Amino acid sequence: MNILLQQLKENPFLLAPMAGITDVAFRSFMKDMGCSIVITELVSATGLKYNSRKTIDLMRFSQNQHPIGIQIFGDNLEDLAFAASTVEDSGADFVDLNFGCPVPKVVKKGGGAAMLKDLKKVEQVFQTVKAATTLPVTVKIRTGWDDISRNAIELSHIAYNEGLTWVAIHGRTRSQAYKGMADWDYIAHVKSYSKIPIIGNGDICTAKQAVDNLLNTQCDGVMIGRGCLKNPWLFIESLDLLNSKQRDFRNLDSPTFNFESVFQSLDKSYSTYATERVRNLQLKKLSSWFSAGLPESSQFRKNIFQAESHAEITEQITSFFKPYNNLSIKSFNNDGFLMGGHG
Ligand SMILES: Cc1cc2nc3c(=O)[nH]c(=O)nc-3n(C[C@H](O)[C@H](O)[C@H](O)COP(=O)(O)O)c2cc1C
Repeated sequence: MNILLQQLKENPFLLAPMAGITDVAFRSFMKDMGCSIVITELVSATGLKYNSRKTIDLMRFSQNQHPIGIQIFGDNLEDLAFAASTVEDSGADFVDLNFGCPVPKVVKKGGGAAMLKDLKKVEQVFQTVKAATTLPVTVKIRTGWDDISRNAIELSHIAYNEGLTWVAIHGRTRSQAYKGMADWDYIAHVKSYSKIPIIGNGDICTAKQAVDNLLNTQCDGVMIGRGCLKNPWLFIESLDLLNSKQRDFRNLDSPTFNFESVFQSLDKSYSTYATERVRNLQLKKLSSWFSAGLPESSQFRKNIFQAESHAEITEQITSFFKPYNNLSIKSFNNDGFLMGGHG
């Protein structure tokens, strides 16, 4: 069995790619927090030809992140083939195609979710990319372009015939952008009609939702994005809950719910992989998201963004989170949270 599917059997909870967030440092941190497979944010296949510093940085990963996928987007077949072989040369484990990005700048050029409008082109892209690499190829899509043209089932058939490893589905159409809720019933429907492994994605905020959706849809994995930005333990909790439901107590460390160690691990990761400026910025951003649902979090958010030095940021974080170190389950919802992104 392909190593990706093997990995999903051990841990079916994947980290969703999020541009500007799931960089090398964040992925490394989330691996420590129990997530399974990780994927970089989207990288332009055409941009890859120019080998810019920014692109190289987007493709950077560390050894603890295997198996890791690099996500590419574009509509030019030659560029996509070149990008797929570049991914293979980088030492990554698989190529992920972005067919879900709703952003006008991307879809106007025929990339991202625009692919969903042309299944002939989809087939050509799958064939071209498969021919350009020996690595497994996966794709991340939306349920369709709009409500009347949902075609995830047809697309999944093509993906299966062309030998892709899985189809990950964000349960909204491109027209919906981030409005409404992800349609997990539709994801279940696609799963029931598909021979290819299906990964479900959208609006998972709690371990219960992650496990219920995994079991109810019979999906092969559940991909989590924004939820882990508010609850850093979401992956550990989900795996723990799944294993307890399946009465399979493998050697899992139980979640510690200790903010102090979370911030230590986060800080270590950013000090290893990022500049001081980025490290401070990410600590501010992530601590303010992690404070969601806790009393006085809005005051904390104001304070943390005024802190300047690393010492000041650490001091603010330590004093705010200290009373919550033995917290069990954090409650929050995703209403209106980060309603925009590239997939
Ligand atoms: C800020 C942001 C950036 C995103 N960037 C990407 C991306 O680069 N590639 C991609 O396939 N999806 C991207 N997405 C979409 C997520 O992977 C995911 O499909 C979406 O957020 C729904 O899942 P969630 O509710 O668990 O966050 C992004 C989402 C957000 C919020």
